[in-house]
Amino acid sequence: MERTVICPGSFDPVTYGHIDIITRASKLFDKVIVGVFINVDKKPVFSFEERVSFLERTVGDLPNVTIVGFDGLLAECAKKYGASAAVRGLRAVSDFEYEFQMALTNKKLNEELDTVFLASDARYTYLSSSIVKNVATLGGDISNFVPASIHDEIFNRLNKTKKGESVK
Ligand code: PNS
Repeated sequence: MERTVICPGSFDPVTYGHIDIITRASKLFDKVIVGVFINVDKKPVFSFEERVSFLERTVGDLPNVTIVGFDGLLAECAKKYGASAAVRGLRAVSDFEYEFQMALTNKKLNEELDTVFLASDARYTYLSSSIVKNVATLGGDISNFVPASIHDEIFNRLNKTKKGESVK
């Protein structure tokens, strides 16, 4: 039986941490749906189109990976694409509480949907999209956080220190 899973997230923007989880999931399962949560309420810094474009340029070449958007419940999106599990990376104990709550909620909403946690690679346990945005906004080096193919677009959009702008 073909195993399809979904890697859901905001990906605002995608980081090496996400790329690592998606790549490992693509080796473990037959098909991986990367579900980009459109989530206008959370006011992402990057538009849905930009977030998808970053993913296309970083994981789009993996043969069994498909990038989709979703705006409702993950439980419904998983059903739509025939995913039997959501794959999430766990960085630290601090991630666990929220992730466990989400996993149990999703199971209640869709009995067929399990959650598989992959231990974050030790190189990326500190990394998050928020850290990338924070550091880039202050003109810091984000080359260890995101691949070269998307680096400049992210950095130039966020860097507020150029042209003598105040970072207050
Ligand atoms: O990258 P993130 O922001 O940690 O991803 C969170 C995400 C998008 C996976 C989560 O917020 C989600 O699944 N949202 C969809 C709405 C939903 O299904 N909510 C109920 C389960 S908590």
